[in-house]
Amino acid sequence: MGSRVVVITGCSSGIGRALCYALHAKANSKGIKLFRVFATARKLDSLQKLQEDGIEIVACDVILPASIEACRAAVISAAGSVDVLINNAGMQAIGPIVEQPLEHFRMVQDTNCTGPVQMIQAFAPAMIKQGSGLIVNICSVSSYVDLPLSAAYNASKSALLSVTNVLRMEVEPLGLHVMAVTAGLIASDIGAKTVCDVEQYYQTDSAYRPIADAIKRRMDVPSASGSVMSAERAAEEIVKAVMRPRPPREIVTGARARTALLAGFLQYWLWPGIVERKFSRMFGLDKLRAAALKT
Ligand SMILES: NC(=O)c1ccc[n+]([C@@H]2O[C@H](COP(=O)([O-])OP(=O)(O)OC[C@H]3O[C@@H](n4cnc5c(N)ncnc54)[C@H](OP(=O)(O)O)[C@@H]3O)[C@@H](O)[C@H]2O)c1
Repeated sequence: MGSRVVVITGCSSGIGRALCYALHAKANSKGIKLFRVFATARKLDSLQKLQEDGIEIVACDVILPASIEACRAAVISAAGSVDVLINNAGMQAIGPIVEQPLEHFRMVQDTNCTGPVQMIQAFAPAMIKQGSGLIVNICSVSSYVDLPLSAAYNASKSALLSVTNVLRMEVEPLGLHVMAVTAGLIASDIGAKTVCDVEQYYQTDSAYRPIADAIKRRMDVPSASGSVMSAERAAEEIVKAVMRPRPPREIVTGARARTALLAGFLQYWLWPGIVERKFSRMFGLDKLRAAALKT
């Protein structure tokens, strides 16, 4: 059997980049590569090192249909088929939902949920035709637990998990597998690239001025938080699951993932009031009431 063709989105940094190296390194006992990896990103420059290291690169902005179509055409013309699609590209925007710029909210949904759907619509038909294939969607513990200041990201990742679960039922009868990766904290650039107009919350007309510092601090998660899993280790765990003859429907990876999932369970099913009060305090939202009483 030849190498399986893999397309990965968002490979300029973090988990995507680590996945490229982890898959590219896999070989059988005769030294034949198990995967032919197509690393994609918005800017080809950001993939230069991967290319130097022998990985094929293609431009792909998951928001732009023309870019996705050009990527699909390039992969199919080079490799003739696609066996694994990993929807990894993602971003986050922080801010209280009442005042968050709508364009930030939309950008997160477009990148984290509509983008993967567009990629699936582009690549799944070839998989369906060949009667096999694997689609991996990088979801998050945020698909299960709702934290303040993170509505855009939570909404996008919950939606992506729903898409993943529905897709599985719809394509399994056609021979495809679908796997969700529920990721906890993993070292990457996602914190540094977080979109937030922090200054707007320091303005006198913002209802969230008393917690503007907390909003600023929230932008540092997860890259600045103490315990994170390396992107390389997370990638190895994902690749191990990808290589299974029957990939699992979901894997959990990343630091503090199980704690976050437990918090989500408590939030939804056991003690929503208690958990939400705790989360509110964690982000200083309790200060808003005191500040409002003073005015
Ligand atoms: N790190 C964590 O703790 C964590 C936890 C749970 C889930 N995740 C998920 O893991 C995935 C990878 O994120 P990461 O943590 O590795 O962060 P990262 O280092 O910031 O990587 C995100 C990648 O997505 C790309 N991207 C953003 N918008 C794009 C677009 N419109 N089209 C194509 N690519 C785009 C970025 O490219 P540019 O360089 O062009 O911006 C970058 O390559 C994301 O889906 C994220 O939500 C991460």
